[in-house]
Amino acid sequence: MPARPPTTAERPREARPPQAPGPDRYGLAAWVYDVATAGWSGGAIWRTRARALEHSAPGSTLLVPGPGTGRLVVEAARRGLKVTAVERSPRMLSRCERRAARGGLQVQVQLGDARDLPAEPLYDTVVLEHFLNVFPPDQMVHVRDQMIARVRPGGVLAVADFTPLDPQASGLARMAQRLHHVTPLGGCALLTGNAMHPIYDHGHDLEGRPDLSLEAIHDERSFGYGPAWFRCWIFRRREASK
Ligand SMILES: C[S@@+](CC[C@H](N)C(=O)[O-])C[C@H]1O[C@@H](n2cnc3c(N)ncnc32)[C@H](O)[C@@H]1O
Repeated sequence: MPARPPTTAERPREARPPQAPGPDRYGLAAWVYDVATAGWSGGAIWRTRARALEHSAPGSTLLVPGPGTGRLVVEAARRGLKVTAVERSPRMLSRCERRAARGGLQVQVQLGDARDLPAEPLYDTVVLEHFLNVFPPDQMVHVRDQMIARVRPGGVLAVADFTPLDPQASGLARMAQRLHHVTPLGGCALLTGNAMHPIYDHGHDLEGRPDLSLEAIHDERSFGYGPAWFRCWIFRRREASK
């Protein structure tokens, strides 16, 4: 009997052809990035990133694609994690390196595209901190799958992003939340070329995946008491069944 053709999901993915690096558009935002994100989120963006570290032990390995100015990377190194980061923007990367140097810390930050990371090694923790927002929905799903594949069985995937819309919330509250999301996204789209897209619901998307279990959800409030419009999901990659 002829072999059954593979489904789309079963087909091996072709490697992305090598691409020449484009202009450093994120570099345009590098100088203002920390102040803008801290101000816009009332510190909640930082707190969602930091939540990821609560689930990682000193001495364990951590992968951070798109670390930006490197605040998390440096904090992780300070806590004794072995950090690898891959950043596409030279100016972001140089801020990240300078921050590490100021703290007298060693972090391995590579200039490159995280989508080109080799299949090995796998990491104890992979943190996607406001990274998936860069991509339009179809690409985001693929990039997220790639990053999940970088987590060792038993390891942690932390995803920090905007909190999904609550269907129980009032129309006004949902409109305010949409506006709060679309404003920085629009600014980034103009400045950095990021995609415009709806708020991603990683919890909903990844629910029911046989290789992941949801361990925790941390919602963070702007200025500690405002609306909780930023979220960190903690997933554990299941050990392969014997
Ligand atoms: C929205 S910023 C997030 C920065 C930081 N992770 C944070 O939590 O604020 C996205 C970062 O990802 C970087 N980036 C975008 N696409 C990338 C790619 N394909 N590979 C590596 N870095 C990328 C950008 O240069 C930028 O520094």
